[in-house]
Amino acid sequence: MKITVKAPANIAFIKYWGKRDEKLRIPANSSISMNLSNAFSITSVDFDEKLKGDIVKIDGVLSAGSEKDRVARHLSLVRKISGKSYYAEVVSKNNFPKASGIASSASGFAALTLAASLSAGLMLSEKDLSIIARLGSGSACRSIPDGFVEWRQGSRSEDSYAYGLYPADYWNICDVIAIIGQTSKKVSSTKGHTLSESSPFYKARILGMAPKIREIKLALKNKDFTKFGDILEAEAINMHTVMMTSSPALYYWVPKTLEIILKVIEWRSQGLEVYFTIDAGPNVHIICEEKNVINLKSNLLKLGGVKEILINRPAVGARVINLP
Ligand code: PMV
Repeated sequence: MKITVKAPANIAFIKYWGKRDEKLRIPANSSISMNLSNAFSITSVDFDEKLKGDIVKIDGVLSAGSEKDRVARHLSLVRKISGKSYYAEVVSKNNFPKASGIASSASGFAALTLAASLSAGLMLSEKDLSIIARLGSGSACRSIPDGFVEWRQGSRSEDSYAYGLYPADYWNICDVIAIIGQTSKKVSSTKGHTLSESSPFYKARILGMAPKIREIKLALKNKDFTKFGDILEAEAINMHTVMMTSSPALYYWVPKTLEIILKVIEWRSQGLEVYFTIDAGPNVHIICEEKNVINLKSNLLKLGGVKEILINRPAVGARVINLP
């Protein structure tokens, strides 16, 4: 049966960088994120007894090599759980360019997990879907539940999954993404995670995680935007410090990234309350309250060098959608 699913990308306020278990993608720390309304994948999966092999098409292009292998491995996991041996046809589209620096793996593997499991006849719980999505791409587990999400690190595969802290309509904050890089990242996050421990600051980062997560959850509970913003901005710099001091060093920023960071700080000092966070790429995610989106956007447009601005509100997690 062909099933089509829409799943959002997510932005982590407290990041996942480094794993306790490489193969099972069990993270070194818990993380906190928000699903994004305007960055998503739409994926159809059809397990069909007539197929002679898995077929994977992403953004209109037939996948081959390691990209296809990674999807096929995920399909095999679903085959193993469901006891079905058919091959599948997977057709996936992202609403953002693949090389825009927005990770498609989170939305892609969340959508693939839900679509494949239903197509194979499985009716899995949100927790189980999150665990399976995690095995495809760590951060994908956070794109299964709705809204504001915590991925509890856990210690075994069965207890490392994401769950919803608050629904999408809980708080009207936005993630305004300034897209500046159109190139694919040089070092994938899968590889980057394995380098984290080589940074002399990694241990300190991990030690500080539990109190930081407690604090940001409290700020989220109280909708204390100033506290929330202070924590998420410091956290982004903390993670990039580990990246830049690992061996080999990982620099995901380009000059424009730093220019926007400094501008965000300047705009804030002038009364526009905005905070930045950055993932494993050059783009800057600017977190603000809904009321400040228009001013922020016009400031960004004046900068030059920003190729696209994506405005995201909090969104629901992976959902089956009607076929077109
Ligand atoms: O899920 P991965 O392997 O693409 O790792 C995601 C890493 C960051 O985006 C940098 C942080 C995060 O928690 O999303």
